[in-house]
Amino acid sequence: MMINPKRDLGLLNGPVLLFGGPYSNLAATEAMQAEAQRLQIPPERVICTGDIIAYCAEPVETLELIRHWGIHVVQGNCEQSLGAGAPDCGCGFDSGSSCSLLSIEWYRYASQRVSPEQQYWMAELPGQVDFQLGSLRFSVVHGSTQSINEFIFPGTPQALKQARLSATAADVVVGGHCGIPFGERLERGYWLNAGVIGMPANDGTRDGWYLLLEPDSNGVTANWHRLPYQAQQSRQRMQQADLCDAYAQALTSGRWPSTDILPEADRLEPATPLKPQTLRLSY
Ligand SMILES: [Fe+2]
Repeated sequence: MMINPKRDLGLLNGPVLLFGGPYSNLAATEAMQAEAQRLQIPPERVICTGDIIAYCAEPVETLELIRHWGIHVVQGNCEQSLGAGAPDCGCGFDSGSSCSLLSIEWYRYASQRVSPEQQYWMAELPGQVDFQLGSLRFSVVHGSTQSINEFIFPGTPQALKQARLSATAADVVVGGHCGIPFGERLERGYWLNAGVIGMPANDGTRDGWYLLLEPDSNGVTANWHRLPYQAQQSRQRMQQADLCDAYAQALTSGRWPSTDILPEADRLEPATPLKPQTLRLSY
């Protein structure tokens, strides 16, 4: 799938907060904004890796919160599809798979609610956001550097991550789309995923995840953090809207309704709560 032109933010001074997948989950997005304010990170240093609208019940409210907040947003496949008035979310699920069948309902629900003006805003989002922190260059994408809906998981072969990173001028790629927070040192450079806030990480807990990049004189420290929020409230909103019960349940069970898309190595059986991770990024 096509990727929109990139935006370069230049050199950023101070910590950078990244998160993905608000997924129409208003309570989670409000919690994320409150956390950024608590950490005193201004909107100019907050980046969302895309998929503002998806599974949950408040697509318009979530989109408007993000827009008024004024943060940077990388276009996700959901923004691309809704912006173009496409017939489906473009997640890249195999046709007929349970992920594909489950996505039909929320996509119809969301596409009936967004205005033409909101569609235009989503269609115009950058496909990649670049910035520099210390002397490290970062490229933030949705799926991969090659495709908006390519799934790059922790268990995706390192050679593929390296090839995707090498296609950019960056030292570090931060991706979204896959829903799992992780960081990996490659032979040359790093592949990070900020995680998502609007669905759990399939680890048996309700929390979302975000990533904080903190620069110092020798490099950058990447820290992943849990984002607790009122998941029960978002689940009730989905039930009131008659939306897919499998995703509504996932908000409180912490397990995805289907793991079809996950590599074998990333299927946690039974659910193991992820541990907050730290990765030192050096020059
Ligand atoms: Fe996505």
